[in-house]
Amino acid sequence: MSSSSSSSSGGGGGGGVARVYRGAFAHSTRDSALRVLTDCVLGVNARGKESEFYTGSVEVRVTNDRHSEFFMPGMVDTHIHASQYAYSGTHLDLPLLDWLNIYTFPLESRYEDLDFAKDAYTKVVKRTLRNGTTTACYFATIHTEASLLLGEITDYFGQRALIGKVCMDLNPMVPEYKELTEESKEETDRFITELLRKKYALVKPIVTPRFAMSCSSALLSNLGKTARNNDLHIQSHISENKQEVQFVKALFPECKSYTDVYVKHGLLTSKTVMAHGCHLTDEELETFHEKGAALSHCPNSNISLISGLLNVRNVLNHKVKLGLGTDVAGGYSSSMLDAIRKAVDTSKALCIQDAQLQPLSYKEAFRLATLGGSEVLSLDDCLGNFEVGKDFDALRVNVGVPGSPIDVFPGDDLEVLLEKFLNLGDDRNIVEVYVAGKRVVPLPDSK
Ligand code: GUN
Ligand code: ZN
Repeated sequence: MSSSSSSSSGGGGGGGVARVYRGAFAHSTRDSALRVLTDCVLGVNARGKESEFYTGSVEVRVTNDRHSEFFMPGMVDTHIHASQYAYSGTHLDLPLLDWLNIYTFPLESRYEDLDFAKDAYTKVVKRTLRNGTTTACYFATIHTEASLLLGEITDYFGQRALIGKVCMDLNPMVPEYKELTEESKEETDRFITELLRKKYALVKPIVTPRFAMSCSSALLSNLGKTARNNDLHIQSHISENKQEVQFVKALFPECKSYTDVYVKHGLLTSKTVMAHGCHLTDEELETFHEKGAALSHCPNSNISLISGLLNVRNVLNHKVKLGLGTDVAGGYSSSMLDAIRKAVDTSKALCIQDAQLQPLSYKEAFRLATLGGSEVLSLDDCLGNFEVGKDFDALRVNVGVPGSPIDVFPGDDLEVLLEKFLNLGDDRNIVEVYVAGKRVVPLPDSK
């Protein structure tokens, strides 16, 4: 593990103790999917911001194993259902619409019970932090109190999060799990007001219509207005499964495409993140680009629910903002390392069908999981890499810890260590996690 020592040299940051982290760093920049810096020093001021110059007292933290440790930016999970974590790893034998009706809606109904919610939400926040997710874009359920509780828990453990109280006023197959149209709007307003009133530094609300199939036109319009009036983020699902796309076309015949449904209701903005998009047309991708809206690629879920294979290269060619999501629990893993691996595998599977396609490299997938995710959530001005002025959201990775699933060999340089970690590593290798300069892993209760 790391060693810490104090030094009186340097300084700065104003109030409190600034820190200097010394060791190897790997991150993405605007021009490069992977930049590695060996034997480097990164300053973090007392407000948790990355900075270069110091004028006061400074604590120096040095990676003690230069051959197996490095820092990388924290990972951004751009799409995760906190409520579904309770059954992750099970119930993966049905396609999307049956899966929702038979497993998911009944499970989500349980979050009316705040004891159940507290246990499940505590577990998912702890698990994702240990897995290196410093920022999560969460779906909760339709229940306002439980959704507020998720906000409280993420704040307590120090995870950066956008929290969505799910909105849905249509559910023909499971009518006990839905809201009335007015109720959904009013409860969303209450959720937003209450969450903002807490003044959590890193936890904010996100407007969350579940998807076009479970929301009336009136509700979608209301939510579009709410997001616009409060300048809020928006999240939903789009074109995940072919059957879903057909249903949406039938439900909204006046709209020329699935994307157009969200455009017409004011829900496709530069602060929107839509999950999946496996079956979007080029024209729809152009609309995403024009609006500055983003996609969350959730490859584990797309394969597990046999939904489709997103052509990531085509999305990138259309210059649509793109990040990765675990989509727990359509995706069975809550680890963004799994999302990285499955994103690369999916792109390679598509190359089998089309030899002209360029597969996603591990470096590009690393970028999607870090800087790409920050762009998707319009948070790239404050996180995603180690640029000066951003918050220090970082993982200290050690590929050589006792019991590590990774073996290190002479000549393995930093790029090799990173590639091995991304392909073979797990939470055992993530020895520390920082969010906005604060160490949040090891977790407070596991010391
Ligand atoms: N579409 C609407 N709701 C959901 C959900 O909970 N999971 C997934 N994967 N797709 C959805
Ligand atoms: Zn989802």
